[in-house]
Amino acid sequence: MSGPLVLSVETSCDETGIALVEDGRRIHADVVASQVALHAPTGGIVPEVAARAHLRWVVPVLDEALETAGVTARDVDAVAVTYGPGLAGSLLVGINFAKSLAWAHGKPLVPVNHLEGHVYAGWLLDPGEVERETPPFPLVALVVSGGHTFLAEMRDHLSYRLLGQTIDDAAGEAFDKVGRLLGLGYPGGPAISQAAEAATARDRVFPRAWLGDSYDVSFSGLKTAARRIIGQARADAGLPADEREGALPESVVAELAWGFQDAVVDVLATKTIRAAEATGARGILMGGGVAANRALRDRITGEAAVRGLAMVLPRPGLCTDNGAMIGAAGAQRLAAGMRAGLDLDARPSLPLAR
Ligand code: KG4
Ligand code: ZN
Repeated sequence: MSGPLVLSVETSCDETGIALVEDGRRIHADVVASQVALHAPTGGIVPEVAARAHLRWVVPVLDEALETAGVTARDVDAVAVTYGPGLAGSLLVGINFAKSLAWAHGKPLVPVNHLEGHVYAGWLLDPGEVERETPPFPLVALVVSGGHTFLAEMRDHLSYRLLGQTIDDAAGEAFDKVGRLLGLGYPGGPAISQAAEAATARDRVFPRAWLGDSYDVSFSGLKTAARRIIGQARADAGLPADEREGALPESVVAELAWGFQDAVVDVLATKTIRAAEATGARGILMGGGVAANRALRDRITGEAAVRGLAMVLPRPGLCTDNGAMIGAAGAQRLAAGMRAGLDLDARPSLPLAR
């Protein structure tokens, strides 16, 4: 071991994640129990159902993580836990669990901001993955998830300057909503991405909200336009307005999915590249569930390459919620002396730099 071994707990939303991460980088175990199947019938997360599922799965997930890493809870140097932002009931399960572990084994408890976790996923290395350079400062971080969307400048560890954020919906929320309108089920992001791959016609243009020179973004107008465009396509196909009553032809769904995705990708990529150039960044880091999107990854990677900007792009499984990213951020916080007492409380809304 070259650095501290952190046991990390993530339960802010609908994934129960527990990981063991060494030195803020090397993953020894990263176990995620997903609740996607549980929430699919309701087309979205029911908070109490999510909290109860965390309660059900947190112990088996810990057991599997410890077994995979070949350690016991006594061997770890600290316990890190997401304390916000997120769903209160879900956060409380993970916080209480992490407190118990820290207390029982006499380990420091490190409070981690979920958004910072998405950023620090960029530092992670899989077991056996060859060592690579750490992300270069200064960098511009684009975090795009189901609950948050922002661009921040990072000149050093744990230091952020917010450049812009969504003024209404998060990018993932827009994907999920439009996925539902297209009859693609929950969650919409991966389904739209997959449907768009099959698009042959790419003529339908969805509106972009540029919001002038700012780095803010907005997706509510796009969502409204999508509802109108999809409604028109349904009328043209002789289908009732309600998306549950008859499906659009697959080729039309593909075309609409592509058009919507292209509008989101265009705005996010354009603003991210402009922010990187304006701040003199050496690299661009992406995180959050929507950073798993193939079209967004390809577009930003391509534009970064022609400008000589380094790309920090976790594999898709580390973009969506997981425990390892909390261990990576937790190690930085541990090194900075940040500790929580056993009175740590959940913070459902928490800005990035807290
Ligand atoms: O980061 P995350 O797992 O949870 C939050 O912190 O919110 O992000 C979940 C969001 C969902 O809205 C989901 O639809 C979206 O990320 N997402 C995607 C893709 N994979 C997940 N959106 C677009 N393309 C994808 N491939
Ligand atoms: Zn997240």
